[in-house]
Amino acid sequence: MIFAGILAGGTGTRMGIQDMPKQFLMLGEKPIIIHTVEKFLFVPSIDVVYVAVHPSWITYFNDLVKKHLPAHIERIAVVSGGKDRNDSILNIIKDIKTTKELAADDMLITHDAVRPFVSYRMIMDNIEAMKEYDVCDTVVMANDTIVESTDGKTITSIPNRANMFQGQTPQTFKIAAFEDLFYSLTSDMQKILTDACKVFVLNERAVGLVKGEYSNIKITTVTDLKIAKAMLGEIDNDK
Ligand code: CTP
Repeated sequence: MIFAGILAGGTGTRMGIQDMPKQFLMLGEKPIIIHTVEKFLFVPSIDVVYVAVHPSWITYFNDLVKKHLPAHIERIAVVSGGKDRNDSILNIIKDIKTTKELAADDMLITHDAVRPFVSYRMIMDNIEAMKEYDVCDTVVMANDTIVESTDGKTITSIPNRANMFQGQTPQTFKIAAFEDLFYSLTSDMQKILTDACKVFVLNERAVGLVKGEYSNIKITTVTDLKIAKAMLGEIDNDK
């Protein structure tokens, strides 16, 4: 089966807005998270769209689904987000396992709720990549030179830009393979993971690359939200 896992368990501290996590802010006529969930509902081969929501916002999110996506309630499953991003992924997997026994090719397409511009092509390419790999990451080539600094004061190294990519989401993996590798790591290692692909990289497993888009931005700051609104053609009157 093919599951999508939308990660919406964060509170958006870098956005600096107190009243609600950034994924619930309006973008055009609907909240950011609704744009994102819709993109996955549009893909017929996805069986269930899971959404991991911060525990304080589950009722709020359920009301948004009733309002904006009433015809799709049956295909959406809501679980509680975890203490970090990876924990939110684990909560989704836990719930999937209550509904079925995992088959080797059951896959989970994980995606940040705050990347509403993910495209149908990217999602399909992620699904396609599972024919060749157990895991894939969506990336774009680095446009800026990446510099490494281990102390935040001086440059440690400047890797060749031609070999540098920026990771986006979706990140997709076969759930059974992820679980085998994750639980083989020490608990200290498990705690520092923020990225599902890293579980495979740490175990020296091949992670396929899927072409992302520069438009697949992650809304992290107020500036990102303004850019997202401009991308939708919405005039932003907020000063
Ligand atoms: N996320 C999650 N569970 C967490 C933390 C984050 O599902 N415990 C999700 C966020 O909701 C977001 C995605 O992971 O959709 C990417 O994370 P990020 O942009 O860092 O979101 P926040 O953690 O909300 O933001 P910040 O770091 O500014 O607090």
